[in-house]
Amino acid sequence: MYAGILVYFTCILLHIWLRANLEPTAVQLINQNKIDNLSCHYIIDGDALELINPHHFQPPHKSIFFHDTDCKDGLNSRQMCAVESAARLHPKRNIYVFFSGPVTVKQFKHISFLHKFTNIHFGRILILSYSEGTPLESLVKKGLLNNTFWGIENTSNVLRFLTLYKWSGVYLDFDTVVVKSFDRLPENWIARQDDGQLNCAAIALSDNDIGRGMAYEFIEELARSYKSDIWINNGPGVVNRVLIEICGSSNISSMSVTTCQGFPVIDSKLIYPIHYSDRKKYFLPGKPEDTPDAVIHHIWNRLTHIYDVPKNSLYSRLAEEFCPSVFKLYGANFGT
Ligand SMILES: *[C@@H]1O[C@H](CO)[C@@H](O)[C@H](O)[C@H]1NC(C)=O
Ligand SMILES: *[C@@H]1O[C@H](CO)[C@@H](O)[C@H](O)[C@H]1NC(C)=O
Ligand SMILES: *[C@@H]1O[C@H](CO)[C@@H](O)[C@H](O)[C@H]1NC(C)=O
Ligand SMILES: *[C@@H]1O[C@H](CO)[C@@H](O)[C@H](O)[C@H]1NC(C)=O
Repeated sequence: MYAGILVYFTCILLHIWLRANLEPTAVQLINQNKIDNLSCHYIIDGDALELINPHHFQPPHKSIFFHDTDCKDGLNSRQMCAVESAARLHPKRNIYVFFSGPVTVKQFKHISFLHKFTNIHFGRILILSYSEGTPLESLVKKGLLNNTFWGIENTSNVLRFLTLYKWSGVYLDFDTVVVKSFDRLPENWIARQDDGQLNCAAIALSDNDIGRGMAYEFIEELARSYKSDIWINNGPGVVNRVLIEICGSSNISSMSVTTCQGFPVIDSKLIYPIHYSDRKKYFLPGKPEDTPDAVIHHIWNRLTHIYDVPKNSLYSRLAEEFCPSVFKLYGANFGT
């Protein structure tokens, strides 16, 4: 009996310790069973968006892509900010925002505010036809994405690799703010999140041999890990597994263009200038100048969507400078 009580209290203590000490992996563990209803991905009627026909779509080189996979109709201020910031800094590139579900006329009018940037394009994709003829076709057809935990995030993970495989270009998560042009970066890149992991919240794969080769590796790894039933953590998991293989080392900090067969692995200070463990800094007073190397800021929305965006906070300052139109449109409600 004493043993039982001991085990019971040890479990409680362990649980408290886990909640207090572990970062996103722990958050994932605690919410392991989040089930999203993704039926909107199969609804065709009542959509104000133009349907993208994957057989005829031909984006120009170096286009920038976003994927909206939550069935929430339209975009919120943080998402619109990411899109504006990418468009402002890349006036010569096309920005595509692809929705997996329908958008109502009312929301379409709202997001069309961003059409003042003529390089921003919205479109609807149907996941079945979008994956047709690719190594992921059967994964989608079998309805695997219907029956996954964290379906919104996992579908987004699948679609980013599918898009880069199909068209090349740059993929960006919606919880980013672009603060410099990608023209200063190599044609292909992925970035370290820290010394232990690469992250795929932003990734560039050009249409040269190295970019095409990597896109193929990522898509094959996704298809393979699904078949072998290790389809876990399929975003960062995929890029880490593939790069460890290509670079011949599991030492993330040693990965570089020279050790990774010509594929540039770039530093965290460029893309993830503030680590997720310091994520609160975005919501405290701060200045963009304090991270002079940043090309992108990643706001870690999965962990930070609960915070308001106070005036003079770093995130607010970034929005004011890099997505001023959206910032002005929302005023004091930005980020809420
Ligand atoms: C998912 O949402 C749709 C539309 O709102 C609804 O008809 C359907 O019953 C839901 N499915 C589940 C499993 O909750
Ligand atoms: C996936 O779900 C959608 C609607 O929620 C359904 O129409 C479709 O048939 C499902 N796919 C499979 C293979 O079960
Ligand atoms: C989807 O993502 C979650 C969390 O990122 C992960 O735990 C889960 O195993 C993934 N895959 C499936 C098939 O549910
Ligand atoms: C990993 O690589 C870095 C940079 O090349 C090096 O400083 C470090 O010692 C390596 N770590 C291990 C465990 O080999």
